[in-house]
Amino acid sequence: MTPWTIGLEAARRSSVHPLKSLTQGKNCRSITAQNYLYHMKSLSSLLSCCFVLLLAQSLHADESAAIAKVEEYGGQVLGIAQNTDGVRVLIPPKTFEGRILTDDDLAVLKEINGIVELDLKNAGISDAGVAHLSGLSGLERLHLEKTKISDEGLKSLSDITGLKYLNLYGTGVTDAGLESLKGLKALENLYLWQTKVTFEAAQKYHEGQIAAGNDQLEINLGWDKEILSPARLASLKDQRAKLEAEAEAATAGTEVAVVDDPDFKTHILPILQNNCVKCHGEEKQKDDLRLDTYEWVLKGGEHGAVVVAEDLIESSLFQRITLPADDDDIMPPKDGPLSDNEIALIKNWIANGAKAEAEVAPPQPEVVETKPEGSSVFVEYVLPVLKSSCVDCHGPDKQKAGLRLDTIAAVLKGSKEGPVVKGGSPDESSLYQRIILPADDDDIMPPKGDPLSKAQTDLIKLWIVSGAK
Ligand code: HEC
Ligand code: HEC
Repeated sequence: MTPWTIGLEAARRSSVHPLKSLTQGKNCRSITAQNYLYHMKSLSSLLSCCFVLLLAQSLHADESAAIAKVEEYGGQVLGIAQNTDGVRVLIPPKTFEGRILTDDDLAVLKEINGIVELDLKNAGISDAGVAHLSGLSGLERLHLEKTKISDEGLKSLSDITGLKYLNLYGTGVTDAGLESLKGLKALENLYLWQTKVTFEAAQKYHEGQIAAGNDQLEINLGWDKEILSPARLASLKDQRAKLEAEAEAATAGTEVAVVDDPDFKTHILPILQNNCVKCHGEEKQKDDLRLDTYEWVLKGGEHGAVVVAEDLIESSLFQRITLPADDDDIMPPKDGPLSDNEIALIKNWIANGAKAEAEVAPPQPEVVETKPEGSSVFVEYVLPVLKSSCVDCHGPDKQKAGLRLDTIAAVLKGSKEGPVVKGGSPDESSLYQRIILPADDDDIMPPKGDPLSKAQTDLIKLWIVSGAK
């Protein structure tokens, strides 16, 4: 053995599932130390104590042997959380020595208690291997991606009713295989990328699950082919409605923009229609003045012209809109005065000759309708969030940390430290990690203002999970 492999061996040995050894130790100690005297009083209970000890030991011996076997394969048995007994088992495709693992090697799994997660991805196992999983009732997460299993193998999973996550990416399963998954009512994530399952069949299966009361299921057949759960759809809809409402609020009540050479029809007529025509239009003509067409405006009222080209002093129309607000002659008499921008537009229009049409502008370069780059999930859901919450500091004006978040290319390029998203892995995407920190964490993004909502962070997670495209 080279020093390198010895080191590896030692590392593997020490990783023998710590929770398991702990429970084992505790069982023996609790009987010997705490209850020893009590048990001594009765021979029968002493005997039964020995029996329990023996039983426990033999069980643990089998389990330890199984764990040792998995480690020998080059696999791992890891505790998943401090206060549970559940374990996560990883089985590699090949042992350290290079032997390819076979279906029979999985027989040891039955000896290991509390397997919650099992990762067999890329392993050369087939349907006969999966048959060893039948009966692993606590299993919640199962990785079978890129294994050789087929529809037949899925039958062995039909009794693992607590299964929440099943990854069949890159396997040979087909529409018919979904039949065997009908009883998995706890299933939340089903990955079917690059299998022979059709979108239609997946949709039908999804509908069946919803009808059976499982409204959590999401099926993934590729980054742009996702079947979302009703709960997620509702939250996307909410999110969308909210973004639309925000956009509307942002445009409502905005001032008209001032331009140097206003056009009567485009700029002036709307102001007159909104503020003057109810008294100076077709129905009423106060002072015989109509302000609803260019010709009427120039014709003037009872006392002659109200607009004199290039002469603001002689133009009573301009004079009457610029009087102090409490002047009896101000126009409009109520609901006024006009806004500064509206007055500026009328002023510019008269000063520029009160023309019917503004000078014809030089032809504009043809505007090419460019669709923002990126997947539709990015464009429709992620980009609006980045624009509203991040682009102030990570956009064209400022690039904090050398990071821009205003286009898909910029997001993928990352910061001066490197990438901030990794497709498929929210855990390794700092962009996601930094938006889900507790609100009072110094590193949370955005650093000021409200943290993103759960719906928004979920959208970003969904986008990353589906490949960050
Ligand atoms: C609520 C009704 C009302 C509205 C709205 C109104 N006006 Fe008048 N306007 C009058 C009345 C009444 C007179 C005649 C009495 C006077 O001169 O004050 C008048 C007179 C005028 C005159 C004088 C006409 C002349 O022959 O000298 C001008 C100019 C004028 N209005 C412009 C405007 C403009 C511009 C607006 C919109 C910004 C406007 N008015 C909105 C009621 C209105
Ligand atoms: C008020 C300004 C501001 C806003 C708004 C803001 N950031 Fe930042 N961001 C910073 C600053 C400053 C840094 C560099 C210091 C740091 O890493 O905390 C940074 C760093 C980052 C980094 C780390 C980059 C790296 O690799 O070092 C990420 C990722 C990030 N921001 C994402 C976001 C996201 C996503 C949003 C919107 C939800 C956002 N930021 C909104 C100011 C901002």
